[in-house]
Amino acid sequence: MDERTTRPVAVVTGASSGIGAATARALAADGWEVVVGARRADRIEAVAAETGGRGHPLDVTDPASVDAFVAAVPECRLLVNNAGGALGWATVAEADDDDWRTMYETNVLGTVRMVRGLLPALEASGDGHVVTVGSIAGHEPYPFGAGYNAAKFAVRAVSGVLRQELLGRPVRVSEIDPGMVETEFSLVRFGGDTERAAKVYEGVTPLQAEDVAECVRWVASRPSHVNVDQLIVLARDQAGARQIHRRPDNG
Ligand SMILES: NC(=O)c1ccc[n+]([C@@H]2O[C@H](COP(=O)([O-])OP(=O)(O)OC[C@H]3O[C@@H](n4cnc5c(N)ncnc54)[C@H](OP(=O)(O)O)[C@@H]3O)[C@@H](O)[C@H]2O)c1
Repeated sequence: MDERTTRPVAVVTGASSGIGAATARALAADGWEVVVGARRADRIEAVAAETGGRGHPLDVTDPASVDAFVAAVPECRLLVNNAGGALGWATVAEADDDDWRTMYETNVLGTVRMVRGLLPALEASGDGHVVTVGSIAGHEPYPFGAGYNAAKFAVRAVSGVLRQELLGRPVRVSEIDPGMVETEFSLVRFGGDTERAAKVYEGVTPLQAEDVAECVRWVASRPSHVNVDQLIVLARDQAGARQIHRRPDNG
């Protein structure tokens, strides 16, 4: 029999870099057939090839793109909603509507669209699981972060509601909420400003994408009756959204 048909299918969104790419690798190593999606098709193809999975272009802000992606995944047991991120660093008084809209579209509506599209397959698998990557920013608001805070607080609300709505049905709902992880996240947040992005991690030993991927892999590999509702994971150098220990000698 084709080996593919024997492996359960895991969809990972935002798998072209950072946490998503690392998660695809970790899940593939754990025996999942990964189906990866993001906007950068070349990167998605590379991750799919590396993990022995499948890749499809995906823009979670575009309903037609989500529909096409979902149509290519008739069977699915695990959905990792990871696509997302932050844009900008502004006070509420100086909030940029476009940044806020994109953050809401990507993190919140993107997650909702993926869940809505794949829920029938997840349920039909008899042992479905939705794992969403939220953030410490969804627990603790901080100055200049309101747009991202609002989006990740909303993501957490969606996970909480979904868990209640699916009670009694064979689909688990988990959320993994990391603190600072060294990925392209800050580069994207600061519009490609490498110097500013590098400063975020100065003097700190942040989490790496693989650390969060291991959390996803562990949560997804618990027995079916175990639902890890929320998992907050921070670097030892971080004790809250803005409580960060920086070593002056390194910074
Ligand atoms: N790094 C951190 O400090 C941190 C902390 C807490 C939570 N998080 C969360 O972790 C998740 C992954 O972020 P990361 O740190 O790995 O950053 P990253 O390296 O920038 O990865 C973000 C991923 O999301 C994808 N993405 C963005 N917009 C998308 C869209 N419209 N449709 C489909 N995919 C889209 C990107 O791919 P394309 O650009 O190719 O589409 C990329 O693969 C995000 O939800 C982020 O909010 C990150």
